[in-house]
This record gives sequence, C-alpha cells and structure tokens, in this order.
Amino acid sequence: MTAVAIRFLADVPGHADTLAGWHHAQWSHLYERWTLEQTRDELRDHATRRARPTTLVAIDGDALLGSVSLVDEDAPELRDQGDAWLASLYVVPEARGTGLGKQLVQALVGFAAGQGVARLWLFTPEHAGFYERLGWRPQGQAMLRGTRVQLMDILPE
Ligand SMILES: CC(C)(COP(=O)(O)OP(=O)(O)OC[C@H]1O[C@@H](n2cnc3c(N)ncnc32)[C@H](O)[C@@H]1OP(=O)(O)O)[C@@H](O)C(=O)NCCC(=O)NCCS
Repeated sequence: MTAVAIRFLADVPGHADTLAGWHHAQWSHLYERWTLEQTRDELRDHATRRARPTTLVAIDGDALLGSVSLVDEDAPELRDQGDAWLASLYVVPEARGTGLGKQLVQALVGFAAGQGVARLWLFTPEHAGFYERLGWRPQGQAMLRGTRVQLMDILPE
C-alpha cells in the first residue's frame, strides 16, 4: 500500500494536462474566454517552478488525486483585493471526504508562509464552511459572471 504525498507539480510534470482537463471542466463557467489550451499552458508553466505561481498535487503512487495552486491573481475582477491567492483546490470525486482537501489547503498555507505571504486570499462559490473550519475568515462577497462568490482570507504562519 502507498501513502498519499503532497508534492509540487514540478516534481511530476507529466500530470499537468490531466489536471488542466479537470480544472477546465470544473471552473470554466466562472471565467471569460478561459480555454482548455490556456488552462494547459498555465499548468505546464506551474510545472516549471516551486515558487509562486505554482501548484501542489496529491499523489498516491502514480495516481493523481488532487491539486491546489498559489497564484498572484485568480480573477481579474478581484485583482485589487489581494496579490496572493489560493486557487483551484480540486480532489477527484472518488477520493473526496477522506481529508485530502484539508491536507492540500494546509500544505498550501504552510508553503505560502514560507514564501513570505502575509495575507492569502481565496474565493469560493459554495465551500465557505469548509474553509472556515480550516481557519479562513469571510471577507465579503463578489459576483463573477453571474455567480455569487464568498471572499475569504487567512494570515499564513
Ligand atoms: C471541496 C473539495 C476540495 C473538498 O475536498 P475533500 O477532500 O472532500 O475535503 P476533506 O475530506 O478534506 O474535508 C475536510 C472536512 O470538511 C468537510 N467538508 C467538505 N466539504 C464541505 C463543505 N462544503 N462545507 C463544510 N464542510 C465541508 C468534510 O466533511 C470534512 O469534515 P471532517 O474533517 O469533520 O470529516 C472537493 O469536494 C472538491 O474537489 N470539489 C470540487 C472542486 C471544488 O469545488 N473546489 C473548491 C473550490 S473553492
């Protein structure tokens, strides 16, 4: 049996295109003109470095189970809100409810602290309760292409 490990996408860059397909299917409705090709380009770029902007992945042996990203901007409409964002938290449906989402968020916040990020932001359409239980603070709401999202922040340490 293998254990789930949290690694940089840069350590397993061959997973970038699979991840792009999942991300695009999950979130393309929130962004204007965000094509699958752009999603692939972004993640292939993240796979080249272990510093912001970059992506962490959850891996079990060769199997990709999820990911989370640290980026400078997650939506142009929210550019003025903050300059460091937790983005694209994703766990494959069959691995949900086992603590992986929580593990990815905690790893990303720890990594952001190490990168000197003083205040980290995210927006979420429907998982505010999940993040609140992990220490994130609600900071008002915004509309993204007709979808209401909750803004949240945390002070990484
Ligand atoms: C959101 C998501 C990442 C959660 O991943 P997960 O691996 O299932 O989450 P975890 O197993 O770590 O859940 C941790 C805890 O939060 C709880 N939880 C999960 N979703 C929740 C929610 N929407 N509201 C409140 N609590 C929630 C779990 O029950 C668990 O509680 P427990 O520790 O008492 O058992 C996953 O459902 C997913 O990938 N969804 C699709 C993409 C998405 O919506 N991403 C978030 C974008 S903002």
